[in-house]
Parts: sequence; structure tokens; C-alpha cells
Amino acid sequence: MGSEKEKIGMIGIGYVGLVTATCLAELGNRVVCMDIDAVKIESLKNGEIPIFEPGLAELIEKNRERLDFTAALEDVFKQCEIVFIAVDTPPTFTGDADLSRVFAVMSSLPGMPDGHHILVMKSTVPVGTGGKISGELNRQKIGSIDYVSNPEFLREGSAIGDFLNPDRIVIGSQAPEAGEKVARLYRKLDKPILMTGLATAEMIKYASNAFLATKISFINEIANVCDEIGADVSVVAEGMGYDQRIGDSFLNAGIGFGGSCFPKDVTALKQIAGNSGYHFQLLTAVIEVNELQKRRVVNKLKKHLGTLTDKTIALLGLAFKPNTNDLREASSIVLASRLLGDGAYVKAYDPVAIPDAARAVRGVLLCDDVLSAVDGSDAAVLVTEWDEFAELPLAEMKQRMRHPLIIDGRNFLDPDKIRAAGFTYEGIGR
Ligand code: UGA
Repeated sequence: MGSEKEKIGMIGIGYVGLVTATCLAELGNRVVCMDIDAVKIESLKNGEIPIFEPGLAELIEKNRERLDFTAALEDVFKQCEIVFIAVDTPPTFTGDADLSRVFAVMSSLPGMPDGHHILVMKSTVPVGTGGKISGELNRQKIGSIDYVSNPEFLREGSAIGDFLNPDRIVIGSQAPEAGEKVARLYRKLDKPILMTGLATAEMIKYASNAFLATKISFINEIANVCDEIGADVSVVAEGMGYDQRIGDSFLNAGIGFGGSCFPKDVTALKQIAGNSGYHFQLLTAVIEVNELQKRRVVNKLKKHLGTLTDKTIALLGLAFKPNTNDLREASSIVLASRLLGDGAYVKAYDPVAIPDAARAVRGVLLCDDVLSAVDGSDAAVLVTEWDEFAELPLAEMKQRMRHPLIIDGRNFLDPDKIRAAGFTYEGIGR
């Protein structure tokens, strides 16, 4: 069992679970997808895709024959030797990861059909979790179960490409044969596969996300200094990026990082360090810089408009980044709340996130397009660098807005073009 073309189980059909299951199917495997949300499972059976991810709907359709959906855990353990766990591990109030969904799966194992199983952890879990779970499985002698850590490095918006063309695959295990079986699932991709111990695999995930978040907070601070001294952070980043030791990715300054991963994982790593008695000073600063960065636009607006009371501000983009409808920890939410707190009226437009925004950002007038959002506004703030914003209808915007002011929170627009159209333009460190 367990080779390619065998059935593979996927528990937790959220964003990571659905993408991973679909891509494993694309590699030729049959995948049994299980989620406790029976309504979601029914919609998936009917071909409805609960998330916005470019190319996902098409790939699910292409591999429909190889994807089964069920709300019953036994279905997975009856049919599959290799069972992935991709349930969410949201942050608790302390910043630790909430593992209740992982433990719910573990506690149902004694009732599952017998046979050898390999549990593969895709969810991001604190360093040490795999060791503890393996120890517990051995202690309770629950059937024959091996545990493997296989962290995910998918980015929302480009998850399918990231899965099928990864930089590396990390497999942590105390059972070499189980690790090898999981590695075999990925061999076709012909990419580096790093076989490690459990804690090391878990740490690679946290350290990678924390490093990328550090890169962003670093360039954001450089941008803030550039603002003061009149340098251009975009060109500074370009100049730094040519140095191969630095690399040119993740050096876009802006109004802070968001999403379901960086904020959660950076805080969790700080907490993991703290729980073990080590104060991770650098990460404390990374988090603080990011929080302040989300608010920087407010001061830029005040510089041009004076008090924001009764001013109308249009937000262009709400999602935490383009090509997703995800609003979790989006900078837009903090910014909108800050503006409302300062007495401004806030209007917003996002190409895909509007249906979800009604719940996430209360008090904001949600609009159907850019022109309705900027109508009567004193400033427009570009929050998410959606492709369609590259070609803003500048002439009509100028007519509709009360003040021709554009704050580019992602350094995405062409300043010369915006100024030539009669606007005051301000970026972040530009
Ligand atoms: C991130 C990692 O990039 C993935 O490798 C990882 O698998 C994933 O978290 C996870 O742990 O599940 P994701 O959250 O989808 O992926 O988004 P990113 O593309 O990494 O962007 C995160 C945030 O950083 C966004 O708000 C984005 O706007 C911001 N960002 C990114 C910047 O402000 N500047 C940059 O140069 C790059």
C-alpha cells in the first residue's frame, strides 16, 4: 500500500487540504477528502468550490474522477494507508497554536478501522508536537500508525504552481520507511526532498515564514527611513536584490503583511521560543513594525487632509494580497477601523473579497467598482495590488473625487502617470 495510484486520505478540506488533495490527484493518485463540515462536502460533491484560488476549480474538474468527498472519518481510514491532516491551527489568545482540531482527529483513532496507517501532518503545528503525538501513539499502542511531518509552503494565489513546482519538500519522520513512502508521492516532481527528524521539519516551516516576515518588516523600516530622507525604497530594494545573498523577492515595501500564515506563525514561533525560556527579540520587533506599518497611511492622509473627521476615504482592495478573497489579518481591516475611529467615512472596492468583507469590516460602505468607491472621496488608498488597479480610470476618478489624492500602499502604481493625471501621489518610502 501507499505507492502512487493508491488512495490517499486528506482530513480537513480547507485551503491547504483542498489544494493538496487536488494536486495529489493531478499527480495520478486517488484522494479521499474528508471534512466535518457536511455542508461544505455536499457543495464540493456538487462541484462548488468554497475558496477563490486561480486554477483550482479547473484542476478539480479535471481530476474529478480521482477525488472523493466524505464527512465520515472511517471512510478515509478504511481506504487509505497514507492520511494527510490539514485542519487549521488558528492562534489562541496567548499566540500559541490551537491544536484542538488536530487532537480531535487523534482522539478518534482508536475507533478507526485497523491496518497500517501513516499520518502526515500538513497543518502547521508547534515544534515538538510531532514528537509528542508519536510518543502518545506508541504509548497507547493504537493499531499500527506512523507519524510524518510534511510542512506546506504554498502561497495563496499561486498555490497550485507552488505545489507542482516547489523549491523543496520537507519530510520529517522517526520511521524511515514511512518517511520514504511519503517522499515517493513527490518524486515525480523531481525537486529536492529533505528528510529530517520531526522537530527539525516543524522548525523549518516556522523559521521560513518568520524569515520572510522579517524581510518584509526590514524593507518596511527602510521605506520609512526613505520617506524621511527622500530616497526611493523600490530602487533601494532593486539594488539590494541583485546581491544573491539577499535575493530580490519579498522586498516590496507596503502597509504590512497579513494573511492566515505570517502573523500567526511569527507570533507562534515567538511563543514557542518564550515557552522554552528564550526571548526572541527580533521577532518581537518584526511584529511591532508590522502593526505600526498598517497604520502609517493614516498619518500620510492627515498630512494632506488635516483632520480625518467627516472626510471620505476610498480603499482600493481589501484582501490581504491579490488573487485571493482571504481577509484574515488583512491590513485593510486595521486601516479601515483606524480611519473610522478617526471619524472618517470609509468606502471600499475589492474585485473578489466584497461578499466576505461585509462580515470582516463593519461600518465600511462596500462598492461594486473603483468609480463608485472613489465617488465623493477625499483620498483613495491602494491597499491590495490587484492587476486591474494597474490601469485605473484616472480621468474619471479625478472628476468624481473631492480631492485628487492617491496613497499607494503597495508602491504598485506609476507615480509619473498618476501625477500627470493631476493627482497628488504618495507611496510608502518612495
Ligand atoms: C505564506 C508563505 O509565503 C508560504 O510559503 C507559506 O506556505 C504560507 O504563508 C503558509 O504558511 O501557509 P501567504 O500567506 O499565502 O504565504 O502569502 P505571501 O505571498 O507570503 O504574502 C504574505 C503577506 O506578505 C501578504 O500580506 C503580502 O502582501 C505581504 N508581502 C509579501 C509584502 O508586504 N511584501 C512582500 O515583498 C511580500
